[in-house]
Amino acid sequence: MSNKITLLSGTSNPKLAKDVGKILKLDVFYPVANFADGETRVVIPKNLRRSSVFIIQSTFPRVNDSIMELLLMIDAAKRASVSEITAVVPYFGYSRQDRKDRPRVPISSSLIVQMIKHAGASRIITVDIHSEQQLGFFDGPWDNLYASFGLVPVLKKKKLKNLIVASPDKGGVSKAVYYAKTLKAEGIAIVYKERDVSTMNKSEALDMIGNVEGKNVLIVDDIIDSAGTLTNAANLILKKGAKSVRAVVTHGLFSHPALERIENSAIEELFITDTVLVREDVLKNSKIKIATLAPLLAEAIKRIQSGESISEGLILS
Ligand code: R5P
Repeated sequence: MSNKITLLSGTSNPKLAKDVGKILKLDVFYPVANFADGETRVVIPKNLRRSSVFIIQSTFPRVNDSIMELLLMIDAAKRASVSEITAVVPYFGYSRQDRKDRPRVPISSSLIVQMIKHAGASRIITVDIHSEQQLGFFDGPWDNLYASFGLVPVLKKKKLKNLIVASPDKGGVSKAVYYAKTLKAEGIAIVYKERDVSTMNKSEALDMIGNVEGKNVLIVDDIIDSAGTLTNAANLILKKGAKSVRAVVTHGLFSHPALERIENSAIEELFITDTVLVREDVLKNSKIKIATLAPLLAEAIKRIQSGESISEGLILS
């Protein structure tokens, strides 16, 4: 690999950055520390002149601190005469408030993108961004990769028969359709979810479209936060007569009480990725299987550097 690539990582997911570096045979630099008062302090320990700098930083855990780390790393790189800065944000937080769907709400993801741009990044890489319209908030190249690259091979190995792929809400239908086609499922189901806006993270699975009776069902979603969406959907699907319920979710945040809910739910197996650092208690959970996306990110970085296409083979059609 060209020595003109520099990999930097913040503190949110150092393992993923290390795994990407290993594949690319490149050192990863971790320039983030803290001042005594908690302020983020960044010092990049090497010459970056004319380097293409890739900053790998998911914005979870410690959502706001992770974003600050990302912005300060971008700013430090910008002031060090680099040739290009790519913000590699496998899990891109604040992406769920992506439109003004009621009065007096922010468009949070637009603001985060503006901050990344203002700090000096000229390119963004994400994985399974919550909604693809958000790519329009940035006026430079933004490659949104798909976790299916790592997850589909694992799911194919399960050889699930009589498969129905389900979306736990209307926003996830196109993802469910893609998994259904790729896994040659018999059909799809869509759960009708209502979220109570007055109580954070509380949602209810009210009904569903599609027949799941006697079927093996795979629920597809982008984020597990409190796991309310997922476990409500799983329990409803089982009540509607499914033979088994599994789930595949890209970003595993597992905020309390997610693990407890999953443990007590109808879900037999849950497949996630490592876009977010996998905690010990998640690793130890016997229902949860993890597919790494380090090869996907490494390949994307390699292709960006060499000017090859990202869509061919890395992005689903
Ligand atoms: C919502 O639109 C997302 O796709 C996820 O379904 C949601 O954010 C998951 O949150 P929770 O696990 O707290 O229900």
